[in-house]
Amino acid sequence: MTPDHGELLYEGKAKRVFALPDPGQVLVEYKNDATAFNAQKKAQLEDKGRLNCQISARLFELLAVAGIPTHYVGLAGETWMVVQRVEIIPLEVVLRNIATGSLCRQTPIAQGTQLDPPLLDLYYKDDALGDPLLTDARVRLLGVADEARLSAIEQLARRVNGLLLAFFDAIDLQLVDFKLEMGLNAAGDLLLADEISPDTCRLWDRRTGDVDDRILDKDRFRKDLGGVMEAYGEVLKRVQASTSNPVNCL
Ligand code: TMP
Ligand code: ASP
Repeated sequence: MTPDHGELLYEGKAKRVFALPDPGQVLVEYKNDATAFNAQKKAQLEDKGRLNCQISARLFELLAVAGIPTHYVGLAGETWMVVQRVEIIPLEVVLRNIATGSLCRQTPIAQGTQLDPPLLDLYYKDDALGDPLLTDARVRLLGVADEARLSAIEQLARRVNGLLLAFFDAIDLQLVDFKLEMGLNAAGDLLLADEISPDTCRLWDRRTGDVDDRILDKDRFRKDLGGVMEAYGEVLKRVQASTSNPVNCL
């Protein structure tokens, strides 16, 4: 069922954002559209919107319990959530615990290398430019955030990583890497925004040693491994089973 909402404010690759009567809030709809490689690969994945919305909601709830400021307000249906309206900082913050993906394509670092401390990479959020990897100097040159805010962004991302690593570990999922986005609300608070789901995380199943079978995230779609929604469903099942008492799982 579609909740009441105002005008469409923004449509991205995986979500739509609608106005709400409260100007401090917006309604987010999670879509079934799947894209990869900067939308060069596209598909409709039945049920993806619901799975990502429900997984994100549980993860935002448990992060909030642990003191992380997030945009999440509450669920408004199977594919809908109410969030605080924020101005998104145009940075994609990627935290890497284990080397894979673009890190291994762009450097000689071997697949599977444990990264300690976890590597934090900043990308410029701009589809037309293909979300380029930034250097520290380019981040400063772009002026997307001052020194204090950059340091707050890094601290928040590292705290989220620590909490999610422990949470996923307890449900036999290895958090390989993930992407976060952050924004500023009307009061100027830095909030964790966007989504946290198998679209934006790499999650490996510790219950199998098979290098393909263990993939429970969007890499199944990127690499044509099949069973994409079954994998997301398994993540939701474990996340739901473990968050009946969120305080205990952190
Ligand atoms: P990468 O290895 O392709 O750089 O991806 C690192 C992590 O960021 C991985 O968990 C997938 C996620 N990610 C996104 O959420 N959106 C993106 O556009 C890209 C490229 C990666
Ligand atoms: N999010 C990007 C896209 O939609 C890339 C990716 O996740 O692989 O194209």
